[in-house]
Amino acid sequence: MGYKETLLSPIKIGNKECVNRFFAQPMECVDSDEEGNPSDLTYQRYENLYKGGFGLVDLEAITVTNESRARKTQLEIMPRNEKALERFIRKLKEVNPHTLIVFQLTHSGEISEPDFSRRVCVKPMYGLGGDLLSEEEVEHIMDQFVLASKIAQAVGADGIDMKLCHGYLGSQIIRPFNDRDWKYGGSWERRSAFAYDLMERIQKGVNDKDFLIGSKMSMWEGHPGGFGSAGPESPLMDMTEPLDLIKGLEERGASYFIESLGNVHSAMNYMEALKDAPELSYLHIYFANMMKKVLKPETVVIGSHFSPFRGKKNKLLSVDPEKSSLFAMGAHCIEEGMMDMVGLGRQSFADPFTPAKLAEGREDEIHYCTQCMNCEELMIRQQPVGCVAYNRPYAQRLVETRKKYGKLTELHT
Ligand SMILES: Cc1cc2nc3c(=O)[nH]c(=O)nc-3n(C[C@H](O)[C@H](O)[C@H](O)COP(=O)(O)O)c2cc1C
Ligand code: SF4
Repeated sequence: MGYKETLLSPIKIGNKECVNRFFAQPMECVDSDEEGNPSDLTYQRYENLYKGGFGLVDLEAITVTNESRARKTQLEIMPRNEKALERFIRKLKEVNPHTLIVFQLTHSGEISEPDFSRRVCVKPMYGLGGDLLSEEEVEHIMDQFVLASKIAQAVGADGIDMKLCHGYLGSQIIRPFNDRDWKYGGSWERRSAFAYDLMERIQKGVNDKDFLIGSKMSMWEGHPGGFGSAGPESPLMDMTEPLDLIKGLEERGASYFIESLGNVHSAMNYMEALKDAPELSYLHIYFANMMKKVLKPETVVIGSHFSPFRGKKNKLLSVDPEKSSLFAMGAHCIEEGMMDMVGLGRQSFADPFTPAKLAEGREDEIHYCTQCMNCEELMIRQQPVGCVAYNRPYAQRLVETRKKYGKLTELHT
């Protein structure tokens, strides 16, 4: 089978039919209106992904509270947003009724920006800190996740992504560094109970076996004590807990997982490598394969970090570019059983029509991401985000942002 057939073949996720193997990664774009509702820019971006033929779209990190959040104009999912989100999903389904969508529910915890919200934590991390959350506050946040899931269901989303990646609150609770003695701190049994309890409460709240529940996970956060390390201060990687967690969530009904690595504060390169490290993509394939091997065959594993493979011209050495293009490598990983779907993050900015162009034989028209990371700079500067390389308004925005704040010297939040 050629890569086109593989990538365009359907797959079942839970009880839903996904039309192809293309997954649009959740990509925060800091372009909501003041109430956290989708703006014209948000509509434009998602309508393009729907027109572009992605099988599954993960709506960017949408916060379950506006009290603590990472971005000033971040999408929000609270009762006041329900009507606007319903209109948004209705419009997207009109554009393309075949694309599935899940919402990536998040709480930013210690990554919340103190300039406009409350930074909170379960144990102060060097360089971040934040108000210590009480058990009651964590219970309340879990209720907010349940309410957000019910809103997602009511507005027509196909499911949710319980965010456990990149150092946001989910990661903060499950990581070994959270060794304080409290309901969800200390032993692995207690830390994992947070994810299990949350999942069970969401399931009970939505009470719909067709509603997809899954999670994007940083299998290894990449700093001492981060998720996937051997202890609260250990720099050693240890996969015992991450693998146990995905099996536990699967037993409780998770139908898909999205592989990821890294932390938005301390280990950005593992999450989204810069131009000079495209080979980090192979690390992601390794972890996705590891997840696939311990899960049931029907549980969908989505691989991340495919943008550096680009077209037939990339920066990967020692391999024929024909074999290391995004399409060739993605299809190879699926055919060899390392993963089931291919996630596109920055590439979905650079060209949201990538799947459609493949389907229509217009591969030579695809714009490939260059890993310049200018989109990330816009995000860190709290500006509306898009591809700076191929979209003039965002290029102009970067120029204006740099005039105002100077060029970013450190690429992390
Ligand atoms: C501007 C920007 C925003 C992002 N927002 C999110 C997000 O909301 N949720 C998330 O899980 N990952 C987010 N990511 C990470 C991507 O989803 C993806 O995991 C990463 O970019 C690697 O994939 P790629 O090589 O295809 O870009 C973001 C990345 C960028 C550059
Ligand atoms: S701005 Fe740069 S890194 Fe971001 S999507 Fe465009 S080409 Fe890729």
